Amino acid sequence: MRSLRACLAALACSLLAAGCATVGGVLTSRGESIARAQCSGCHAIGAVGESRSPNAPPLRRIGRQYAKTSLAHELEAVSEVGHYAMPPTSLSPDEIDDLVDYIQHIAAAPTL
Ligand code: HEC
Repeated sequence: MRSLRACLAALACSLLAAGCATVGGVLTSRGESIARAQCSGCHAIGAVGESRSPNAPPLRRIGRQYAKTSLAHELEAVSEVGHYAMPPTSLSPDEIDDLVDYIQHIAAAPTL
């Protein structure tokens, strides 16, 4: 039992170190904080919920529309030229990777 606890504690620490924590059963990540900071003004960024801007599809729906590579290309385009009412954002390749992971995560979430 003791070793199981120690093992779980070590696991929790390594998850935190990797920038991940579980909140309300949903995996949060750097991708989520980017989405929260830069996309949530218009898009719903959770596994549930409506977008603030009625024209902006929830990110989870975008996640279901695009395969992983095309989603990354799409986000590069969004980052370079902006889209619709959204000004260009400066997303680094790492941030795009994180966003792609997050968007695919919420798109696959069972709570839909
Ligand atoms: C100022 C509002 C606004 C912000 C902020 C915003 N978007 Fe959007 N986005 C929109 C709207 C509106 C649409 C849908 C336009 C349409 O389809 O007519 C859209 C569509 C998209 C699409 C789909 C494009 C397509 O053609 O399928 C992607 C991908 C996307 N947004 C990604 C993002 C990401 C990632 C962020 C954060 C980095 C973000 N958006 C922030 C307004 C916004």
